[in-house]
Amino acid sequence: MREQVRALRGTKDLLLKEARLWTTLEAKARAVFNAFGYEEIRTPVIEESSLFVRSLGAGTDIVEKQMFTFIDRGERSITLRPEATASVVRAYLENNLVNEIGFTKLFYMGPMFRAERPQAGRMRQFHQIGVEAIGSYSPHLDAEVIALMAALLDSLGVTGYNIKINSLGCPKDKKALSDGLRAALSNNVDNLCDDCKVRFEKNILRVLDCKNDSCRNFVRKIFKGTEECLCAECLSHFDTAKKALDGLKVNYTIDPYLVRGLDYYTKTTFEVTHRKLGAQDALGAGGRYDNLVEDLGGQAKGACGFALGMERTVMALEELPDISDGICVYFATMGPDEYRLAFNMAMELRTQGISCDLDYEGKSLKAQMRAADKLGAKYAAIIGEDELKNHTLTLRNMATKEQKALPERGFISEIERIFSK
Ligand code: HAM
Repeated sequence: MREQVRALRGTKDLLLKEARLWTTLEAKARAVFNAFGYEEIRTPVIEESSLFVRSLGAGTDIVEKQMFTFIDRGERSITLRPEATASVVRAYLENNLVNEIGFTKLFYMGPMFRAERPQAGRMRQFHQIGVEAIGSYSPHLDAEVIALMAALLDSLGVTGYNIKINSLGCPKDKKALSDGLRAALSNNVDNLCDDCKVRFEKNILRVLDCKNDSCRNFVRKIFKGTEECLCAECLSHFDTAKKALDGLKVNYTIDPYLVRGLDYYTKTTFEVTHRKLGAQDALGAGGRYDNLVEDLGGQAKGACGFALGMERTVMALEELPDISDGICVYFATMGPDEYRLAFNMAMELRTQGISCDLDYEGKSLKAQMRAADKLGAKYAAIIGEDELKNHTLTLRNMATKEQKALPERGFISEIERIFSK
């Protein structure tokens, strides 16, 4: 046999039960988004690389180390999207949604690509479900987006998650935060882990959420968190958002050291974690990004959103939703004349929207009944020699094992009657 080609490391096929599970979860997500007034957007998976450099920030891990970037035949630098916020804002501007619909609520589901070292919960092609609400500075929007994330997790059946929130403030505050942190750490860089020594130079805010214990303890001793650098307006914004969350009875904790790995965030940021996830414990994350629309060439617009990782969401599920979705009828036949009859009847039922199937491999009747079982068929319609002679079909209820003979002529309408209930 010839050597087989295998899927790339960090990518995964989704099929059968798992694909059905994902479809079920996606349908639940659509229902929640619909209730909150979000409409779907599907953007291309490839974009000009500059979109991500400009939005996520040149010094971020994603842009520096994790983008799948290539030069196409026209010498353009193209990147497989590592996330969707930048693409959604690009599309919002390019399609003039600002004038067409004003305040815009969009949701997306789809694959993202990051060249990370694969491990449990960390893939090179992974999938996000997310939302972006563009065109408002209201702190109530922050609260609503976080509440939406919680409602989504509840609806998907995830329990025991933890929402952490923080505020990074406006760009001025973020600068004060970076400067304050730099001043506090400049004489102590040697106490930081190797990664944080690099972060100190390139992306100092990330020192705040370093996972290394000694680094963490040290930073916590000398820096009291982001709140001390917030201006009055940003403090009041955060306060209103928190009160609105309290009003909605959303459980959250404040983590004054929570910063995010993408440069576009301002003011409220948040992350949801789950203990079942191990080292990669972030189930999802998001926040406000009030400067991104302007940074990408539009008028200044406040915006807020989040994305959940689908793979991690599935890992966090305690119980899987009911995805048993067997077919209605499996035709099991003996000879070619019987098969022809079943073949035509199956087609007639399918066009009525009743799922059915039959054998394509010349299996024995016994093997066909096993196939009916495997496909979760509610009924088997058996056509043997006797049935063919008597113009009948034997209908077997696969759960109760009850059987009855039905006349061939009334068969289709009887099946329609059963499944219209
Ligand atoms: P992010 O924190 O980079 O944010 O990613 C959001 C979620 O995507 C993570 O919490 C995680 O569940 C999942 N994820 C990220 N990388 C991987 C990976 N390599 N393998 C598996 N899952 C992964 C964003 O992407 C922002 N665009 C979220 C956002 C939307 N902010 C505002 N609007």
